[in-house]
Amino acid sequence: MGNQLHIFTGNANPDLAAEIAHLLGIPLGQALVSAFSDGEVRVRIEESVRGSDVFIIQPTCTPVNHHLMELLIMMDALRRASVQRITAVIPYFGYARQERKSAGREPISAKLVANLITMAGADRVLTVDLHAPAIEGFFDLPVDHLRASPILADYFQGLSLPDPTVVAPDEGGVNRAVRFRDRLRAQLAIIAKHRPRPDEANVLEMVGNVAGRTAIIVDDIISTGGTLIEAVDSLVERGARAVYAAVVHPVLSADAVERIRASALEKIVVTNTIPVPPEKRGGKIEVLSVAPLLAQAIQRIHENRSVSELFG
Ligand code: R5P
Repeated sequence: MGNQLHIFTGNANPDLAAEIAHLLGIPLGQALVSAFSDGEVRVRIEESVRGSDVFIIQPTCTPVNHHLMELLIMMDALRRASVQRITAVIPYFGYARQERKSAGREPISAKLVANLITMAGADRVLTVDLHAPAIEGFFDLPVDHLRASPILADYFQGLSLPDPTVVAPDEGGVNRAVRFRDRLRAQLAIIAKHRPRPDEANVLEMVGNVAGRTAIIVDDIISTGGTLIEAVDSLVERGARAVYAAVVHPVLSADAVERIRASALEKIVVTNTIPVPPEKRGGKIEVLSVAPLLAQAIQRIHENRSVSELFG
């Protein structure tokens, strides 16, 4: 059957892929995605996909290189199996934080990864909250760049927290925080952050009043938790009555979960662009699903309908 919709997944976030397939009312595509004894990725597509419209759900989260290779090799297998079109659905686009040279002799890894995805056979890309929107332009392919902030903002609207102030934890997050603030009709505060070294963050200065208010820190990524915890500490120092966080991509590397548990943070709400294992959930960490957003986008792309209404 020509142009049939197929959803495949690698091993990066099979639960999200299953949820999306369920919402679309189709089974997940049959594929073997494993590894040879030396670690090389082994893929075999186990059903006919000739002439199909294929979507591969694969965030490039940890182990980043392995999941990226799975995505590339799956696309190679699908292209050679004569699919009509491949959309790489990358809910979390790894290597995005190396999107420009901040010093001499550094790579632009995000551009290299975009080249690899293109060369492996993607016809289009569907992604969520790129760390830097300019990465969209690293692809000479159509990119649908969805935002999960409305899902997080709607959750916080439901909490009706008193006197909310939305906080951008660094200059790069101001646009996201402004959109969030507008949805919540809240006030805005902005932190100036300094990174003395990779994976370390210090608060330099804050603009905006948080004394006696409920602060909601909005960010795209929590990795080591350094940015978030520094922001929580300075908000508490400046008299915030309670501090919450809304973060799209829960990278949660190193001891981020322990740092969150030990902090003054009331709660952090993240999405499942990256899987959060059960031992990391609960307590202060709550996970919302982006599956309905992605399923709608996939349906619209498949039917050649506009996706921009979902941009939020
Ligand atoms: C940086 O610009 C991002 O928006 C995040 O603030 C950052 O990636 C978080 O990293 P970490 O949790 O390691 O401070």
